[in-house]
Amino acid sequence: MSRRLMRAVRVHAHGGTEALQLEDLAVPEPGPGEVRVRVAWSALNHLDVWVRKGVPGHKFPLPLTPGCDFSGSVDACGAGVTGWPEGARVCVAPGFATQQSAEAASGDHQLARDYGIYGETCDGGNAEYAVVRAENLIAVPEAFPLDLAAAFPLTFLTAWHMVVERCATQPWEKVLVHAAGSGVSVAAVQIAKLLGADVMVTAGSDEKVAKGLANGADHGVNYRTDDWVKSVKEWSGKRGVDVIVDHVGRDTLPQGVWLLAKGGRLVTCGVTSGAQMELNFAPIFFKSLSVLGSTMGGLGEMKRVAELVFAGKLNPLVDSRFPLAEVAAAHDKLGSREAFGKVLLEIGGGR
Ligand SMILES: NC(=O)c1ccc[n+]([C@@H]2O[C@H](COP(=O)([O-])OP(=O)(O)OC[C@H]3O[C@@H](n4cnc5c(N)ncnc54)[C@H](OP(=O)(O)O)[C@@H]3O)[C@@H](O)[C@H]2O)c1
Repeated sequence: MSRRLMRAVRVHAHGGTEALQLEDLAVPEPGPGEVRVRVAWSALNHLDVWVRKGVPGHKFPLPLTPGCDFSGSVDACGAGVTGWPEGARVCVAPGFATQQSAEAASGDHQLARDYGIYGETCDGGNAEYAVVRAENLIAVPEAFPLDLAAAFPLTFLTAWHMVVERCATQPWEKVLVHAAGSGVSVAAVQIAKLLGADVMVTAGSDEKVAKGLANGADHGVNYRTDDWVKSVKEWSGKRGVDVIVDHVGRDTLPQGVWLLAKGGRLVTCGVTSGAQMELNFAPIFFKSLSVLGSTMGGLGEMKRVAELVFAGKLNPLVDSRFPLAEVAAAHDKLGSREAFGKVLLEIGGGR
């Protein structure tokens, strides 16, 4: 019997963009409780860069098809799946827990020991077809474009969990968001503004600062040409900053604790510039600060975020689109720090 084949990106060994191999693979079959999605669009995240390059001390299950964010239509359902007709427009919540646990039951499945992410712990959406758990499907309204539906789940969920759940950001607070053009930060700025906060961004070029202001930030500083610490102090005055959203790490986090107001919160979901750093703990206790870690978020939060996106209250930003065959160029674009917002792969394409 001849098997149906599909195009997929595969990483067999970590490396540069040459590690992204385009291959023909068997179209995957959905098991019980699973759905096969015909992928239309997949958005890159920095996570895809880590999967490709590798992370010291961390083992990815290679070979792997990357892609944690993707949209498309339902192609086939496994046993026991109802309510998802063929052709239904969907995007996918990127995280899942397969076992029952107290964390999953409480809604915080990202804290479960068996938590996984499509494209990181199992095959993802940089392929013509992907199989996902039915509970991870998010119905995309007819009027909402599928490319934008691929461009929000992971980053808006992460930013929501940081700004809303971890930091409980209040409307009267000042929020500093680093790297205005990153996927997570585009989302964090919009979420902090939706809450009514006063928001300042840092970025590595004047163009990105301008785009950060257009994305809703009230203030911005180019950290390459200006002293960003001084600019933040001028903005936040003697009181300081209430919330800092950080995923840059070594280059920004140690200064952050000195910029916070009493009772301030610094939340981190990543360390793009480096994980090892010297941190002065004195301001942490004498100003009663919280330094909070954050990873992904629950399915309930994902659904709330999707509602806000589909209602036009949060708006994913697309930087550029590449055909699947140009996945290496898409990685270069994200890795070069030139992108503002999401870099998309067109797979089946369409609206
Ligand atoms: N824990 C979680 O749940 C979670 C979820 C999402 C993302 N993350 C992490 O958060 C970080 C951001 O993710 P993302 O997808 O939003 O990233 P992205 O879209 O690729 O943006 C990263 C931005 O970080 C800035 N940056 C600062 N130092 C950098 C360096 N040494 N190398 C590269 N970029 C640097 C750059 O902006 P400038 O040039 O303006 O400085 C760059 O545009 C990543 O580390 C990612 O792994 C974690």
